[in-house]
Amino acid sequence: MTYAQITGWGKCIPPASISNDEISQIVDTNDEWIASRTGIKSRRVSHVSTADLATAAALDALACAGIEGKDIDLILLATCSPSTMVANTASMVQKNIGAIGAAACDTNAACSGFLYAMQLATAQIRAGMIKRAVVVAAERMTWYVNWAKRDSAVLFGDGAGAVVLEASDEPSGLLASKIGCDTEDRNILHIANCGTDLNKYEPIGPSDLMFEGREIFKRAVKGMSQACDDVLTQANLSLDDIHVLVPHQANLRIIQAIQQKLNIADEKVMVNIDKYGNTSAATIAIALCEAVENGLIKPHANIMSAAFGAGLTWAASYIKWGERVTPINAPSATLPPCDKTGLELIAESVRHCVDQ
Ligand code: UT7
Repeated sequence: MTYAQITGWGKCIPPASISNDEISQIVDTNDEWIASRTGIKSRRVSHVSTADLATAAALDALACAGIEGKDIDLILLATCSPSTMVANTASMVQKNIGAIGAAACDTNAACSGFLYAMQLATAQIRAGMIKRAVVVAAERMTWYVNWAKRDSAVLFGDGAGAVVLEASDEPSGLLASKIGCDTEDRNILHIANCGTDLNKYEPIGPSDLMFEGREIFKRAVKGMSQACDDVLTQANLSLDDIHVLVPHQANLRIIQAIQQKLNIADEKVMVNIDKYGNTSAATIAIALCEAVENGLIKPHANIMSAAFGAGLTWAASYIKWGERVTPINAPSATLPPCDKTGLELIAESVRHCVDQ
């Protein structure tokens, strides 16, 4: 039997940040509200493109695996904030990492995108169609933010994470997975003024994030815990067998509610929403990478992951880690220097939103 082991992991965290106090200069909010209702203290804003974020994360994942771009058969880029839609952004990543001739495809399942892409790439490796894949999730969610709307403006951030999957005889990688979509509620989370449904000859306003926070919250808790239960059954495991939970980072209270439903102890749960906010598809990819770096993921760990996002897509996965928890080559990818603060990077966008 062939499995798709995770042999490399990497991330790209853009340097400029916006603290809760800084965002309180833009919308009517405050650090106390944001921190207590969401767990977020700061978020990153990117000075480079989604493709650049994805490239840096992918290069570090390749270094970690000790292989090069030319060894890769497939690149799946999970994103709902692509640099370009045609040509797809994955093709730019393919070029940047030197994965000459590799298949390159963007997958958009919003916040569930990384787990969707993991399932798709794993299935191809396990079927013997390909040997090695890079699954990368990269987002510039701050590009979409309406800085006049305090309920959603405080939530989102930018960043990228990536893994390398390689064919292996060892039972490891994604061993059970369930992905789905509850489309009836798709309007409670969407970007308006974006896409080919628009009449491109009519003047249209800027794209806008439409968001019913409380409804999404309820469905996220229910959807993610149900999906976790289904995956445990599929894998024939009990919750006691799970060593680490790596949940989508949308709201600390959502994570805690799932944790409570599943009865998982605090020390088993990977949380980094305080530093980065919600980076959509990238949250789990970044959190997985940081969970290995900080020693939460140990050799042969059983990892449960769950996500929920626009669509309303949902996903849960059981991942078995391999033996190695240290990189073969240290991460060394760099971004061009950033000479602006987070507030300076969003200043023009803020002006447009406030003028509306
Ligand atoms: O990745 C998947 C997509 N995202 C999510 O899953 C996010 C899901 N939803 C959430 O995380 C939460 O619903 C929010 C963080 C968005 C909102 O938290 P909440 O506890 O559900 O607050 P709420 O919407 O019920 O609003 C409570 C109050 C309201 O005031 P009133 O009507 O009680 O006077 C809001 O106007 O909080 C107010 N409020 C704020 N106050 C200060 C909403 N946003 C803010 C804010 N600062 N940023």
